[in-house]
Amino acid sequence: MKIITEEALNQAAECLQHGGLVAFPTETVYGLGANALDPIAVAKIFEAKERPTFDPLIVHIASLSQLDDLYAKPINPLVYELARHFWPGPLTIVHQKSDLVPGLVTSGLDSVAVRMPSHPVALKLLRMAGVPVAAPSANKFGQLSPTSYKHVEKQAMPIDFLIAGDDVAGAVGIESTVVSVDNDVCSILRPGVITAADLQKAIPGLIVNVPGENVKLTSPGLLNSHYSPLKPLYFVTSDQTELPVNSGIIVHSATAKVLNANKVIRTSDNCNLLEIAANLFASLHQMEDDDKVEQIFIERLEEKGIGIAIMDRLKKATYQYKADR
Ligand code: TXA
Ligand code: MG
Repeated sequence: MKIITEEALNQAAECLQHGGLVAFPTETVYGLGANALDPIAVAKIFEAKERPTFDPLIVHIASLSQLDDLYAKPINPLVYELARHFWPGPLTIVHQKSDLVPGLVTSGLDSVAVRMPSHPVALKLLRMAGVPVAAPSANKFGQLSPTSYKHVEKQAMPIDFLIAGDDVAGAVGIESTVVSVDNDVCSILRPGVITAADLQKAIPGLIVNVPGENVKLTSPGLLNSHYSPLKPLYFVTSDQTELPVNSGIIVHSATAKVLNANKVIRTSDNCNLLEIAANLFASLHQMEDDDKVEQIFIERLEEKGIGIAIMDRLKKATYQYKADR
């Protein structure tokens, strides 16, 4: 077991305060953080990730009082209601920004995305640093998201401090649900493990807009191709009887057909969606790293509940390889 010492956290917090880049675990994926109120520090994130500046960042906080610096007044009461139910946790809330937030963080938008992560190391780091921390996933733009410090190391980005702890235990495994709030309406901009049904259950009567229904909702930076492994990734079709030689297959139940795969990874024994989400990126990293595997196949899921968020990631991850089939 790797222990994250108090001293390491201290160094990481100081690094953030001095404009450095720190990779840290959260309950969703590893983040690559910088002081959100320091535009020069934030610019280093875009450089390290080779991320286009039209893709805005999520700002991480450890205390509700930090919202006063980030959101414009008056702050919609719905923000606090959502925060009460879901923070700390994998929900990001987009709201009109204050003048203190640099335009680089929000890609010039007049709104800013904020979340309070629940991972104890992330919370402690944020408290020690005392500054809000802008952090996208700690991977090169477009590639697989990291759920372990080893996945971050693999990307070889110029990082000042990597907090190398255990693989995120009891993790969510996929990025937070992103919602915007407008009066008393909440719109899901990016699906995650907190679903529309969860939001409505917590706040009875809440109107929740879901992408694909009502209006077409888009978040900047949500491109068709994203989250991709460096090897071709395809969905396995239900009538498929054979895979090309040297294929790996990722399945979601003990009974799934694995055909003639060289390597098999099961994300779950019984199609448990939380388990699948938690193991998703690690499974793809394992396939990416295995020399026996030249292309990866993965089972689809029904697009219901958390299945919507998992399929959102997988459709983007397979997108660039579609034409090859
Ligand atoms: O779970 C997570 O959210 C992780 C961990 C590290 O906290 N972070 C993460 O960050 O996924 P990133 O940069 O990969 O995703 C940020 C996304 C943007 O691509 C965009 O879709 C949305 O959040 N976003 C950020 N600011 C926004 C804004 N002002 N309006 C609408 N969408 C915004
Ligand atoms: Mg990302």
